[in-house]
Amino acid sequence: METFLRDVVRGLSASPKYIPSQYFYDDKGSKLFQQIMQLEEYYLPEAEMEIIENQTEKIIVDLKPLNNCLDVIELGAGDGSKTLAFLKHASNYGVNIHYYPLDISPEILKTNEKLITEHLPTIQISPLAGNYFDTLSSIPESKNQRLVLFMGSNIGNLTDDEISNLLEKTGSVLKPSDAILIAFDLKKCPGTILKAYDDSKGITRSFNLNLLHRINRELHADFDVSRFEHYPMYNPVSGAVHSYLISQNEQTVQIDNGNYTFELASFEPIHTEISRKFSLFQIEKLCTGSGFNVFGHYTDKKQHYALTLIKQV
Ligand code: AVI
Repeated sequence: METFLRDVVRGLSASPKYIPSQYFYDDKGSKLFQQIMQLEEYYLPEAEMEIIENQTEKIIVDLKPLNNCLDVIELGAGDGSKTLAFLKHASNYGVNIHYYPLDISPEILKTNEKLITEHLPTIQISPLAGNYFDTLSSIPESKNQRLVLFMGSNIGNLTDDEISNLLEKTGSVLKPSDAILIAFDLKKCPGTILKAYDDSKGITRSFNLNLLHRINRELHADFDVSRFEHYPMYNPVSGAVHSYLISQNEQTVQIDNGNYTFELASFEPIHTEISRKFSLFQIEKLCTGSGFNVFGHYTDKKQHYALTLIKQV
């Protein structure tokens, strides 16, 4: 059975029901996510950019790249538009960079390569398409210090076990002088966080509901999308936003041309995403637990967001 179908069948058979958030990003979902990133209520990209613009030099000074050379490896690099600013500041500071953008999508890597070479023709760039756990180990050994980037607060969509696994696998390709720079969204006023996932234009609502449209299209299902509502909730104790699709009435859904049937009760939730927010203390605990030391936190003025530099113990 294809993975997408298997994951959806597994998730809808579970109690409570869920659909893995990785399936948000078909063409339509990726476009909606681009729109989310432009929203004022979705404060994350602006906070990240503020840190990159104001603190990249400090990060480079703290990192002290050997012979001023750095292999920058980016996990889930996307189109490179935000990384461009980081690479620009680092190379203006005199660092010779070899950039390895890693992403599942070969198309997005073409866009990334075009953008970076257009603006920074002196940077060496080697895009690697595929699952980043596989492509990470195929990066050629070099004498250069490595800096792995995991930006965009993508770490917030992972569980503790998934984070440990990511740090362990990444750590296995690093030398003692290498480092990882991770973007964490920080705990803040709960109202600000909730608005970021329940925007007034309803783009996040469309993004969440698009999962059902995608399943209808690609897995031959018959979700009546008009009978589901987007429902995000933020728990200030755990620091997690949980997003759900709530069935508005009792209904039956068929998937794979009727090969699988699921019953939904009135107001039954389907969990679709976790977006975690962290305290600096929690970040430190999480990293230490996976064999890393925090070397520095770089935050925006409002302390909404942190780039955290970690090294293996
Ligand atoms: C990709 N990821 C970090 C986003 C987040 O904030 O969890 C995805 C997203 N979901 C709803 N809005 C944005």
